[in-house]
Amino acid sequence: MKSLLLISLLLADALSFVVPRAGQEVDYSGFKALRLKLSEQSEDIEAQIEELAAHVLNPGRSELLDVVVAPENVDAVTALAAESTVITEDVGAAFKEETLATKDEVSVAAVPSETWFTAYHPYADHITFLRDLQSGFTSQSEIITTGTSVQGRTLTGIHIWGSGGKGSKPAVLFHGTVHAREWISTMTVEYMAWQLLTKYSTNSTVKAMVDKFDFYIIPIVNPDGFVYSQTTDRLWRKNRQTVSGNSCVGRDINRNWPYKWEVTGGASTNPCSETYKGQAAGDSPENKGLVAHVNSLRDSKGLTLYIDFHSYGQYILWPYGYNCNVVVDNDAQHRSLATRAASAIRAVSGTRYTIGPACSTLYATTGDSTDYTDAVGQSTYSYTYELRDTGNYGFTLPASQIQPTIRETWEGVVSMVRDA
Ligand code: ARG
Ligand code: ZN
Repeated sequence: MKSLLLISLLLADALSFVVPRAGQEVDYSGFKALRLKLSEQSEDIEAQIEELAAHVLNPGRSELLDVVVAPENVDAVTALAAESTVITEDVGAAFKEETLATKDEVSVAAVPSETWFTAYHPYADHITFLRDLQSGFTSQSEIITTGTSVQGRTLTGIHIWGSGGKGSKPAVLFHGTVHAREWISTMTVEYMAWQLLTKYSTNSTVKAMVDKFDFYIIPIVNPDGFVYSQTTDRLWRKNRQTVSGNSCVGRDINRNWPYKWEVTGGASTNPCSETYKGQAAGDSPENKGLVAHVNSLRDSKGLTLYIDFHSYGQYILWPYGYNCNVVVDNDAQHRSLATRAASAIRAVSGTRYTIGPACSTLYATTGDSTDYTDAVGQSTYSYTYELRDTGNYGFTLPASQIQPTIRETWEGVVSMVRDA
């Protein structure tokens, strides 16, 4: 009897090993992505929709809301909207076009080759990528860490410097993957580091960039969310922090920065929302680490350029998010750099970006990164890039679009660094 139980337990265990995460991973087969037009600015209707939907893809957008809905809730959701169109008939089927490399062929530590950028990768491999890259350029780079996530993962990045020596120049800071599901942002931010290091000795444009600034590049600022998006829910956005007395999980790290956090209208106070701001300004551990890093850059050589890479929508945005009527004092310079960057991107393969101040161009956000880097971090320039596409694939951009995306984005970044 006892041994029978043991055998069946072992068997169950073996089975769950053979089929990892069976029954745990959210299966989006048959789920639809819908674009909803709401009849009036009703927060109540929006809240009802958010409750019925599995995910809101563009939380904060008021007129047109993109949502992913389980088959059994499609009728209820469309009934709440004035108009609705189907963007994706079967979200689960669409996900299959995305390629996640489960295992990388190269296992010896060597500077990663460009083929890294032909697939999406598991979290552990991203850390290996950074370490391998750094180990090829030890005299002009080092691994940096900026605190720890809720589940204890270290926020890891790379610091790159040029002929002036380590820490001698004003800072350029890049963040990726604050929103877990935005996988193209991870690849893009890694490409910036890869280009700067591997092209330094052969490309005069790159050399000039690296000699002018110290680069601090953190490809994944939300590691727990990123892992969760790969193991359990492909459309996860937030971190994995719990709230006592509530079963919903996650704070939106891009609504948690301690600047104008308390202003209403640009984030949610509901822990179940995609844009939950947290219980207090800067109360996510990820945010604490990022804030400390921004402040330390401000207090050493100062910050010249900050870019937070997101997807999707093809926007270049600058402060402010918290108020559509407050204009940043160097608005004209922000516009000028963004205009030139957008043309540089477009010149590569015709991809069109919309540019403008964040709140008036997209929607209001409180506690977002660029408001903080501008107002508190004293960065000369602060931008949010929303990468490809405009919603056709959305977050699950096929792997075949990684290289076109990172190459055009590189040109935008080169342009901004040159002009900054
Ligand atoms: N889509 C990103 C987010 O929701 C970036 C927002 C940029 N800021 C803004 N005010 N629209 O966090
Ligand atoms: Zn985002």
